[in-house]
Amino acid sequence: MRLAVRKESRPGERRVALLPSQVEPLVKLGFDVVIESGAGVQALAPDDAYAEAGATVVTGSALSDADVVLHVRPLQPDDIGQLRQGAVTIGFATPSAEPDGVKALRAAGVTAFSMELVPRISRAQSMDALTSQALVAGYRCVLEAAMRLPKFFPLFMTAAGTIPPARALVLGAGVAGLQAIATAKRLGAVVEAYDVRPSSADEVKSMGATFIKLELEAIEGAGGYAREMTEDRAKRQQELLTPYIAKADVLITTAAVPGRPAPRLVTTAMLEQMAAGSVVVDLAAESGGNVEGSVPGKDIRVGGATLVGMADASSTMPVDASRLYGKNVTELLKLLVKEEKLDIDFDDEVVAGACLTHDGAIRHEPTRQQIEGDNG
Ligand code: NAI
Repeated sequence: MRLAVRKESRPGERRVALLPSQVEPLVKLGFDVVIESGAGVQALAPDDAYAEAGATVVTGSALSDADVVLHVRPLQPDDIGQLRQGAVTIGFATPSAEPDGVKALRAAGVTAFSMELVPRISRAQSMDALTSQALVAGYRCVLEAAMRLPKFFPLFMTAAGTIPPARALVLGAGVAGLQAIATAKRLGAVVEAYDVRPSSADEVKSMGATFIKLELEAIEGAGGYAREMTEDRAKRQQELLTPYIAKADVLITTAAVPGRPAPRLVTTAMLEQMAAGSVVVDLAAESGGNVEGSVPGKDIRVGGATLVGMADASSTMPVDASRLYGKNVTELLKLLVKEEKLDIDFDDEVVAGACLTHDGAIRHEPTRQQIEGDNG
């Protein structure tokens, strides 16, 4: 079985789907591991390290004769066109945002596993790349804020006077938000957080932050995720959050609703209430933005505040992000191999849940409906 590791091609992407230290377990599973030259360079994994670990390094594309392809960002239709029928791909496919990729996977007869679709059940925790990458992003966005804030995060009591701690507010307390809270706490800030899911309150408190309870109905949807807000509720949430935002030195927004553009939580008028020097980091800038006017990869001044549109947040720490991701894809791959052969068992709920396309069909029903309509 030939397993190819893709050299990521999207601008700004620095991760790789497998590190050299993760080659050997796959060789033991029965794979010939092939690395596209340069795939790991930006994650500090040179070609030599892969070769020493037992992989073959090839120049150019390794897709056409691969039985399995590991990738991070969604494969492009041109890449998919190189795959042979029946090949297995494992990586982020972002099906709601990349329908052309899904159509290409269907047309190529590829068995595509989408890391976004791995069920969030205990047995699949080691395969949960949304969680592992959100951890990196949540940590990183606080560092970005700290570097731009013209103040300390921690309290200092010195002979020259007392410096109060920074006040950080985190909106959205999922995996990234909780990690942002933890990071801001470690740096010494006083942290408040809000989420539409009431079940997040205990998690926020366990991180040592204060949960903001707004007089609004909760919106917890299926699978522990949030649902989209009505326009009216969004407006009321904005009004109620305004005083909290006005007194924050640092605002981190991480809110998301699966398969939908990011909810708009903060308007320009709300930002204009913040004190000079405050920093806002919008982790959702690439998926529509939680904050009005945020631009991925850019710092913008709004009144006295700096608005940072995060881009490729997990990619900013490619070494550890790749290490976690490589483990996630390896664990999923282990479910697909029996006695050194690919053996895809759709009776396994993790295998069935994570599979996007197989044998010329879209298996993930919401994506199938989005692309083919209800009647297929
Ligand atoms: P996500 O990335 O989809 O969303 C981030 C956060 O934004 C969520 O907490 C969501 O409630 C919040 N949000 C959405 N709309 C909002 C709004 N209008 N205002 C404020 N906040 C808003 O979520 P993520 O991080 O992927 O986690 C979602 C859920 O999945 C959580 O309940 C988490 O505990 C759970 N989970 C379960 C796992 C497992 O069982 N293996 C693993 C990881 C997460």
